[in-house]
Amino acid sequence: MLDHRSFTQYLSRTDIDALIQDIAGRINKDYEGKTVVLVGVLKGSFLFVADLIRHLTVDARVDFVKMSSLGKTKESPGTVVFQKDVSTDFRGKHVLIVEQIIDSGRALKFLYERLKATQAESVEVVTLLDKTDKRMVDTPVKYVGRKTKDQFLVGYGLDLEENSRNLGEIYYLKYPN
Ligand code: IMP
Ligand code: MG
Repeated sequence: MLDHRSFTQYLSRTDIDALIQDIAGRINKDYEGKTVVLVGVLKGSFLFVADLIRHLTVDARVDFVKMSSLGKTKESPGTVVFQKDVSTDFRGKHVLIVEQIIDSGRALKFLYERLKATQAESVEVVTLLDKTDKRMVDTPVKYVGRKTKDQFLVGYGLDLEENSRNLGEIYYLKYPN
């Protein structure tokens, strides 16, 4: 169970809604008359995808991927592989990769290259949160909800050892002392 005493609220439901409305407004303008496919990165993005897609007025489809890093250790980032790949025909469509948070960017880079190799008209990245200071591998990110410091966040899809994804708001861990 979540111990609220160790969490401090970072973004309220109102803050999250405002970020999503802003991103959706930009997408609706940029992709008017086009078909977009949101490719949500599991598991973290499932709530963000659900909320974002309801604010889109352009033709929107949805797909999901799940990746994992094989052989990841403290010394090595390991190799990124798909646990679930996309299953969409991207011809004539515009892909928007939807991330909840970008950290090192390694998994994102792998996915970006994979989707660039399809016949999609374009591939861009949307993220609710961006830990820019942690970036190891660069991929262009077109839509960023909020840049954030290197602090561990939970809630609204983000987990602490698989718990707390169900929280409606985003919290950061208060470190002892
Ligand atoms: P990257 O490949 O290093 O960019 O990994 C990003 C992934 O790490 C995200 O999709 C999350 O699953 C996880 N992650 C990164 N930062 C946090 C955090 O603050 N809280 C929870 N999960 C995080
Ligand atoms: Mg996690």
